[in-house]
Amino acid sequence: MTRVWDKSDWRQKARVQMPQYTDQAALHAAEAQLAQYPPLVFAGEARRLKAELGQVAEGKAFLLQGGDCAESFSEFTADTIRDTFKVMLQMAVVLTFGAKCPVVKVGRMAGQFAKPRSADTEVIDGVELPSYRGDIINDIDFTAASRVPDPKRMLQAYTQAAASLNLLRAFSQGGYADIHHVHSWTLGFAQDAAATDKYRDLAARISDALDFMNAAGVNGGTSHSLKTVDFYTSHEALLLEYEEALCRVDSTTGLPIAGSGHMLWIGDRTRQPEGAHVEFCKGVQNPIGVKCGPTLSTDDLKQLVSVLNPENEAGRITLINRFGAGKVGDHLPKLIRAVEEEGYKVVWSCDPMHGNTIKAASGYKTRPFESVLREVREFFEIHNAEGTYPGGVHFEMTGQDVTECTGGVRAVKDEDLSDRYHTACDPRLNASQSLELAFLVSEELAARVLERRAAV
Ligand code: PEP
Ligand code: CO
Repeated sequence: MTRVWDKSDWRQKARVQMPQYTDQAALHAAEAQLAQYPPLVFAGEARRLKAELGQVAEGKAFLLQGGDCAESFSEFTADTIRDTFKVMLQMAVVLTFGAKCPVVKVGRMAGQFAKPRSADTEVIDGVELPSYRGDIINDIDFTAASRVPDPKRMLQAYTQAAASLNLLRAFSQGGYADIHHVHSWTLGFAQDAAATDKYRDLAARISDALDFMNAAGVNGGTSHSLKTVDFYTSHEALLLEYEEALCRVDSTTGLPIAGSGHMLWIGDRTRQPEGAHVEFCKGVQNPIGVKCGPTLSTDDLKQLVSVLNPENEAGRITLINRFGAGKVGDHLPKLIRAVEEEGYKVVWSCDPMHGNTIKAASGYKTRPFESVLREVREFFEIHNAEGTYPGGVHFEMTGQDVTECTGGVRAVKDEDLSDRYHTACDPRLNASQSLELAFLVSEELAARVLERRAAV
C-alpha cells in the first residue's frame, strides 16, 4: 500500500522562493502557536467553493478572483477591505446582469502576504540587501534588520487574516451586499469615470427589475440570495511553514484541508511538479490554482494536473494563464489542446496582470491598462476558436484611488504614477479600471452567449 500523504512531506522536497529562517527556536514556537489556533476557513466552505468552480469548469458560471498583489500590515484598515469588497461586488453585478452569468467571487484577501521575487537581493545606491518577500516574511524597509525573515510575522499575518475574514463575512452576510444596495456600492472618487456612468445605468436597470420582482412577490424576504453573497478567500500557498501549521483534518471526510484560505494557488515560479509547493497542495482538499506562464511545457502541465487532481474532479483545478498581451496565441492553444486530449476538467482563468509588467520611464513598475485589456481579449478569442470555455479572470486591484497602472478612461499617465503609488509589490488596477475590465469581460461573455444561441 502506498504511504498516505502527510502535511510535512513537502519538507523532503526541493523548495524555492522560501525564506531561510535563522532563529529555529522562534520558528518552531510560531509554528506551534499557529497549529493550536482555529482554522481561518472551514472545510464545508472550501468544498462549496469547489462545487461552484465545478460549475465554472462546465461553462455554467464565471470566476472573478481579485485583490491586492500583496496585503500589508500597514495598509490594514476596515476601509481598504470594504472598498476592495465593494469593487468586487460592482464587477460581479456587471457580469451577472450584463452577461446573465452566475459569478463565483474569490478575493486575493485574508492571507495574500507572501511574495515570490525575481531576485534574492535588491541593490539600492550600491547597498545590497535581501529582497522583500511580503509582510508575512520580512519588512519592506530597506535596512539590514528589516529584511531578516522573522517567523513571528506569521502570527501577525494570521491575526490580520482572521480580522479581515470576520469583516468580509459580515459584509457578505450582514446586509451590506444586499442587491437592493446596488447603487450605493459606487466609490465617490470614481464618479466622473465613464465606467461609473455605465455602472449607474446598469444599477438603475437592476433596481427596475427588483421593483418588478418585488411586485411579483420575490424579494429579500423570500429569496435569501438577493440579500447575501458568497465571498471566498484565496492566496498563493508560498510560505509552507504557515500552510502546514494551519492544515487541519476535515471532520466530515477525514481528509486534510488547508485552513488558511478557501482556495490556494501555486505560483508560476514554484510549480515544479516534483517540488515542495506541489507536494503540499496535492494533499489538501481545497480548490487549487496553478499559474501558467510562458515557460510551462505541455508535459509539465499534464503532470501537474494529474498529480494534483488524480480523480479528475471538476472545480479542483483552475489554470490561471498569464502570458502577456501579444503572447497568448504562442502558448495557450497548445496547453488547451493538451488538457482536452487528456479529458481533464479544469477552469481556465486569465490573469492579465503578471505578463504585462513593465518599467515606466519614470522608473516605476507599471502595467499599461491597454495590455491588460488586450490579454483578456486574446484569452477569449483563443477559447472561442478552440471551442473551450474562458471561465474566469484573476487580477490585482484595490478599491483605493491609486495611480499604479497607466491608462484607462481616467487616463493615468506615466508622470502621474508617483501621485498615489501605494502598492507593496506589483501595480494594481484602481476602482474605475477594474470596472472597465468587468464591462469588457461582460461584453465578451454576452457575445459568446449570443453566438451560441445563433448557432442552435
Ligand atoms: C501573483 O499572483 O502575485 C504572482 C506573483 O503571480 P505569478 O506567480 O503568476 O508570477
Ligand atoms: Co503580483
